[in-house]
Amino acid sequence: MTNMLWKIIYFTSITGFSWCSSTEASPEDQNIPHIAKYFSTKGRYEEVNPYLIKNITAVNSSALQPPSPLCREIHLTAIIRHGTRYPTTKNVKKMQKLYELVQDRVSGTEEWLREILTQWTMWYTEDMDGRLVQKGVQDLKHLAVRLAKLFPSIISEEKLRGGLIKFITSSKHRCVNSTLSFQAGLAEMWAIKDVQFEYTVNDALMRFFDKCTKFIDEVDKNPLALVEMDKFIQGPEMKRVQEKIADRLNVPYPLITDDMVEAAFYLCAYEFAIKTVNSPWCRLFDEADAQVMEYKLDLKQFWKRAYGYDINSKSSCILFHDVFERLDKALNEHKSGQKVTEAVTVQVGHAETLLPLFTLLGFFKNAEPLTSSNFASQTRRSFRTSRMLPYAANFVLVLYDCGGGDFRLQPLVNEQPVIFPGLTERQDSMPLYEDVKRQYEELLKGCDFETVCELFEKNVEV
Ligand SMILES: *[C@@H]1O[C@H](CO)[C@@H](O)[C@H](O)[C@H]1NC(C)=O
Ligand SMILES: *[C@@H]1O[C@H](CO)[C@@H](O)[C@H](O)[C@H]1NC(C)=O
Ligand SMILES: *[C@@H]1O[C@H](CO)[C@@H](O)[C@H](O)[C@H]1NC(C)=O
Repeated sequence: MTNMLWKIIYFTSITGFSWCSSTEASPEDQNIPHIAKYFSTKGRYEEVNPYLIKNITAVNSSALQPPSPLCREIHLTAIIRHGTRYPTTKNVKKMQKLYELVQDRVSGTEEWLREILTQWTMWYTEDMDGRLVQKGVQDLKHLAVRLAKLFPSIISEEKLRGGLIKFITSSKHRCVNSTLSFQAGLAEMWAIKDVQFEYTVNDALMRFFDKCTKFIDEVDKNPLALVEMDKFIQGPEMKRVQEKIADRLNVPYPLITDDMVEAAFYLCAYEFAIKTVNSPWCRLFDEADAQVMEYKLDLKQFWKRAYGYDINSKSSCILFHDVFERLDKALNEHKSGQKVTEAVTVQVGHAETLLPLFTLLGFFKNAEPLTSSNFASQTRRSFRTSRMLPYAANFVLVLYDCGGGDFRLQPLVNEQPVIFPGLTERQDSMPLYEDVKRQYEELLKGCDFETVCELFEKNVEV
């Protein structure tokens, strides 16, 4: 057993929870950087669902029309990325280097440049190390409230009090803290003060990428795995961005390295995600530059976590099976007239948890792979991490009983209904559960984590 069960006492006062949300969008809009929708995995959830900017607890139930009014939820699984967090130590170091260069070498009269030089201070420190920020606490609290409004009969006070909502998390503090925040969102909504919630830490499930030897050896620690991204960095699009930034800062081209361009992009992204400010660093990029930066980051995710290599998605086999076993168990309990013991499962992990699973299931797949040379022809790609994996990104599966033996499975990505790849001919976002299982038959029969993650394959895996 690698699982550790943590019993925790719930305190209602983890953080203040504000129900106030601005009804006026305009003052807020000025705070949104013009490049905010290109921040890849450093992006704000609100950019993916912009109606939330006006009202962070708004839900759109009309998008979720079950095929029949008889449909009732049997089980819901939500796999959620942690909320907004501080930069990791590695990125803080890069940001420090850029800041030092700008302080030492740059002068200028433009207002935004003066602001960087005289008012902005480097407030990020290495010890922040990726921890959840206050905005991240709110991300998860608000998500909990919205999911409960969207699925009131299953994410309910009664089920929470009855212990039918189970929480599983990665051991990273940003994930544990996100789990606590999700619980706090529900508890505050229902004014629950007297209940002790539990959660289980399970890295085998939520950080499978750390346990899959073949993935670690062939991709994660293999410098050649990201050759397409490296070529793109050396290519004409990125070179042009570097030069434009050097021009804007009035420094010689060789001073602006790829790491510095990335640090500047991240500074803009972090200042926005963490503090909701439109920082002067954002002025270093125009929209075309941001699209190039986004492509570079998409290339990284594509080759490191998604369709680039088969083992990337296969490393999530353990989570894939866990999801379907739980759906089957709930369905069997329901069919035999028993109470479903685990009505809701909330699982908190990382972008690196969600992306391999999306890939295994076939979501966001384009006809052509992302490469160093096809930036221009990929402008309409569906593989766009800014839209797939903002902070608090989530994948929700809802199993319904629609009466007369008609069981359905609804997938949602970031609260929007999506269609299982391969089940598109029905144009039906709520397919029969048995059709979904037929679609993934090969994976359900195979996809054994131990086998696929072995370094030297025994030639048995499909
Ligand atoms: C936000 O949306 C929720 C759900 O749609 C609604 O109940 C609430 O009144 C809205 N709040 C504001 C301030 O518009
Ligand atoms: C809600 O969803 C419906 C159906 O998908 C869509 O037509 C409508 O525009 C959505 N409303 C909002 C406010 O997003
Ligand atoms: C969770 O995050 C809040 C806000 O950043 C922090 O004050 C608190 O110490 C964190 N709690 C845990 C358990 O890490």
